[in-house]
Amino acid sequence: MIFKSLLAGTGAKLLTKSSYTISRNALCNLRRFATQRPKGINILRNSVCQRSLVRPFSASSMIKQAEAVSVPKTLLNSSNVVGYWLIGTSGLVFGIVVLGGLTRLTESGLSITEWKPVTGALPPMNQADWEEEFRKYKESPEFKQLNSHIDLDEFKFIFFMEWIHRLWGRAIGAVFLLPAVYFAATRKTSGHVNRRLFGLSLLLGLQGFVGWWMVKSGLDPAQLEERKSKPTVSQYRLTAHLGMAFLLYMGMIFTGFEILKENKWMKNPAKALELFKMTDSPSLGPLRKISVAVLALTFVTAMSGGMVAGLDAGWIYNTFPKMGENWFPSSRELMDPQFARKEDNSDIWWRNMLENPTTVQLNHRILAITTFCSVFALHMYCSRHKSIIPKSADRTVKAMMGLVTIQAGLGIATLVYLVPISLASLHQAGSLALFTSAIIFVAQLKKVRIPTKILISGLYVQQLKKSGSKIITEASKLAK
Ligand code: HEM
Repeated sequence: MIFKSLLAGTGAKLLTKSSYTISRNALCNLRRFATQRPKGINILRNSVCQRSLVRPFSASSMIKQAEAVSVPKTLLNSSNVVGYWLIGTSGLVFGIVVLGGLTRLTESGLSITEWKPVTGALPPMNQADWEEEFRKYKESPEFKQLNSHIDLDEFKFIFFMEWIHRLWGRAIGAVFLLPAVYFAATRKTSGHVNRRLFGLSLLLGLQGFVGWWMVKSGLDPAQLEERKSKPTVSQYRLTAHLGMAFLLYMGMIFTGFEILKENKWMKNPAKALELFKMTDSPSLGPLRKISVAVLALTFVTAMSGGMVAGLDAGWIYNTFPKMGENWFPSSRELMDPQFARKEDNSDIWWRNMLENPTTVQLNHRILAITTFCSVFALHMYCSRHKSIIPKSADRTVKAMMGLVTIQAGLGIATLVYLVPISLASLHQAGSLALFTSAIIFVAQLKKVRIPTKILISGLYVQQLKKSGSKIITEASKLAK
């Protein structure tokens, strides 16, 4: 009641069941209310925290947060459709990562020697076009040094692998950008989601450039000479391309999941407030930090996998847990001076860490084992502290445990069986699946945004009021 009258007093309106608008005026009123009336802050606090939240949050921070979405007529939450669209698009990103891995594993990535963002959407249409495309490929270092035996039909296969990868990228661009503009224009997204969509659009555009920048590193003879490499792309650029895909995927799935979650809360505010009680509890603080650390560790391990793939470092030391006869290669092999480029060898350490296949493989093993042990410890911790953890997060950590076990198993099998395409591709997909579970776990433990708390608390108060008047009507009927 207080909350409702407060909002009414400030001019904020409940537009539909699921969206609030707060005008700039309303926010000024809200601020005046909180600052001028000595009891204002307490009323604000109590109305939002009323029995439902363990820790009241400060009214000044609430006002600051509210100001962040103070563009006139800004929605506090986005439509469910936006959430489904983001999760669907993240599925397309998952697909392109796996396809990108297959393109690399079938050694098709350097078959298209030009970057034509628009006209490249069409493949060669007739024999003459194919001959011309093949002629250009014949000039590339990959053809000259590794593939001089292939004929036009074999070329067509590697060309199509790369062409589908690029076409898929264009499709993601269209499937993301056009609806993003539409949703923003039709005000189906909140200001907070609009900002995320803008950041993701930039990342998506940049990813196209990074893809070509990566391919160029495998086509340019001067760069290959400098790296003393056979015609393959630079492991740094491959990892940057993979890393950006992971970040894009994370942004999409995290935002989509958040939107769906907030809309679900609005359907059952009482249950949502119970959950807020848990996520606001100080006892969940350490676990929240650990969840972010595990997510970061999974990301770093995946990136070190990208370095292994980029250097073909899975083709050496194909035994596990030992590396050959020993647990570790010799320190001479791990810090080989031939990888240093400076005369005084001052770059020996980092060059070996990032360019020596033996050291890079060892790093990936160490990071993978650390990730496995961390998820195991997290799983144990959650089983022992079930009472403080939301049920959904408990289910996620179990899935995470299963996925990290499968992922480690796939990694070992990929290594022991000398990187067969099927296992290597599954291993790559597994890394994204594990990453997904880590993202969802973080999202489930995340503290709820203040505007969302306000919205849900308001809906809760409304519901209470409705059921209260129902009881009074029933009671008066009975009394008659
Ligand atoms: C938590 C565990 C792990 C994660 C998140 C992970 C992640 C990854 C990723 C993302 C790649 C790059 C795939 C690509 O770009 O094609 C990769 C490659 C690789 N990983 Fe792992 N990995 C894990 C565990 C392991 C383990 C335990 C081993 C074996 C000791 C292993 C061996 C390999 C090998 C050999 C490759 C190169 C495959 C190729 O050339 O395509 N991984 N890993």
